[in-house]
Amino acid sequence: MAGSDDATIQDLGHESRKFPPSAEFVATTLVADSSLHDEGRRDYEGFWARHAGELLSWSKPWHTICEWKLPFVKWFIGGELNVSYNCLDRHVLAGHGHKVAFYWEGEPGDTRVVTYQELLDETQKFANALRSLGVQKGDRINIYLPMIPEAAVAMLACARIGAAHSVVFGGFSAQALADRINDASAKVLITADGGWRRGEIFPLKPQADAAVEYTPTIEHVVVVRRGGNEVAMQAGRDHWYHELLAQAAPTCPAEPMDAEQLLFLLYTSGTTGKPKGIMHTTGGYLTHVATTFKYAFDHQPDRDVFWCTADVGWVTGHSYIVYGPLANGATQVMYEGVPNYPANDRVWSLIDKYKVTIFYTAPTAIRTYMKWGAQEPAKHDLSSLRLLGSVGEPINPEAWIWYQETIGHGRCPIIDTWWQTETGGMMISPLPGVTITKPGSATHPLPGIAAEVVDEAGNTITRGGGYLTLTQPWPGMLRGIWGDPERYRETYWSRFPGRYFAGDGAKLDEDGYLWLLGRVDDVMNVSGHRISTTEVESALVSHPSVAEAAVVGANDATTGQAIIAYVTLRGGLSVDEKVLRDHVAKEIGAIAKPKTIYFTPDLPKTRSGKIMRRLLRDVAEGRNLGDTTTLADASVVTELQRRATDSPSED
Ligand code: WT7
Repeated sequence: MAGSDDATIQDLGHESRKFPPSAEFVATTLVADSSLHDEGRRDYEGFWARHAGELLSWSKPWHTICEWKLPFVKWFIGGELNVSYNCLDRHVLAGHGHKVAFYWEGEPGDTRVVTYQELLDETQKFANALRSLGVQKGDRINIYLPMIPEAAVAMLACARIGAAHSVVFGGFSAQALADRINDASAKVLITADGGWRRGEIFPLKPQADAAVEYTPTIEHVVVVRRGGNEVAMQAGRDHWYHELLAQAAPTCPAEPMDAEQLLFLLYTSGTTGKPKGIMHTTGGYLTHVATTFKYAFDHQPDRDVFWCTADVGWVTGHSYIVYGPLANGATQVMYEGVPNYPANDRVWSLIDKYKVTIFYTAPTAIRTYMKWGAQEPAKHDLSSLRLLGSVGEPINPEAWIWYQETIGHGRCPIIDTWWQTETGGMMISPLPGVTITKPGSATHPLPGIAAEVVDEAGNTITRGGGYLTLTQPWPGMLRGIWGDPERYRETYWSRFPGRYFAGDGAKLDEDGYLWLLGRVDDVMNVSGHRISTTEVESALVSHPSVAEAAVVGANDATTGQAIIAYVTLRGGLSVDEKVLRDHVAKEIGAIAKPKTIYFTPDLPKTRSGKIMRRLLRDVAEGRNLGDTTTLADASVVTELQRRATDSPSED
């Protein structure tokens, strides 16, 4: 159904397929009825408090569940707990020391199996090592590592002694690392010689050295040996991780922390300005990620092997590789490298090898696998899978269906999980044993979470497109921006008074399902119609020849903005521009027809896989490109610019 002309954002897409959970899935799921949702609606504070008590161990109970002084929140006030105790010690004490925490696989194919006992032993030693370097409760520690078990150890060791970590993705530059270290005044940097990526070693220590030139607060650098590449060690400042461990005392009791003790900072760039150090604390955050991990993934510790393909440098890695899964005693796969080394079937071979039951990845990865073709997963037995998840961007219905059929073989519920670095954990997602899913919809807020869509003026709407807002505090909510409370208030709480504004567009359909429409900065205005890039992209991707599409609005003398599309075709296929334009018109309406379509072998993406629409707008409007260093592959834009100057046709 098309939206009305004065709609905040037009509602153009229509998707009527529905997928109830299978009887087979429901038979063994943790929750198959509305009880959790009902409980959360009745009393959200009570809901979270019940899970805080049931899923975590506290050394001291809280006296107040939640104190909400908009926009500042505190959860479980007076309570004390230790995150590393909750992720490690109590599982070992309960007799699960031999349980595998990580099946780790390096990109070259080397492997390690790390049990909970081993993870605890190493975390205690490393916590002692950090103390020997002068680290104290309240300090900030930077982590710049490849995807190796030591990344989890480093985070847990910080949590054990009350130091806050700030993980910087290993693909970021020395400059980005230095900026983040300086913003947090970190005392110690934990890095590695290098890691494996695409069949080669990418050196990290030289980047770390270059950063530390400009970071007066760093006193020590700890170096994990992974790549085996030659590195320079500065005497007194630099220490090998394995040498520190060899000298460290084996036990380090987990110190009780206040529920509101800072657990970590994680920097997010947003669209403009300097990166924001998003603050997450201890008790509320762990409650949120432990609860959502358990129920959204239907996690059952005796049967599941979980694999989240994110890097620990992103919030997904913090919440659903380290804290959520380990708090639940989960067994996981951790993989160091790229999905196409040595060949395009690496991901599927790992699922088969480790008998992964729950798989969590991003739409950009799913579309890439689609492009590589169904013959790749077909080479492997994927029958261990029982649930599939998606995160990071809106998932196009076409990609959703491919995931459901080609990877899940129609057996696995799909959970499309909407959340942000700022929210700490999942907010909007199906509950897999309960929710009837629709391809491309994140469906409903999770139990204990409340969301509303509002129009330009902030009025709640119940149907059609608008802005996604969150209307009550949740335990994993960011506690602020490090060093900048004003920016915190301004960024999230000023646009709609009393509501958290996430910056995303969303619509509600006739059944009350939520559909995410992308960042509102990306919404296009064509002849006065506000059109979401997501809906046009999904219409393009629904054509059988199209693998990926990115859509932007470029200045246009007649229509204000014109829709420009960049399209990547599936392997070996070709299609006429006009055919695609007509396809969009047929799918969602003539108003959304792209003016111009460029075909391109690749799209410019950030290192976390989000399409950089700002750059595509620059290309479309013929501007010089600014900073392209955050791109995963900078050569992509040169090619796009070349194509943009071969003036395309229009009918
Ligand atoms: C932004 C947050 C959440 C961890 C990874 C990204 C987009 C995220 C979805 C989804 C539609 C999504 C939003 C959000 N996003 N998940 N399931 N459907 N959009 O964390 O880097 O903080 O980015 O990612 O635009 O605001 P992040």
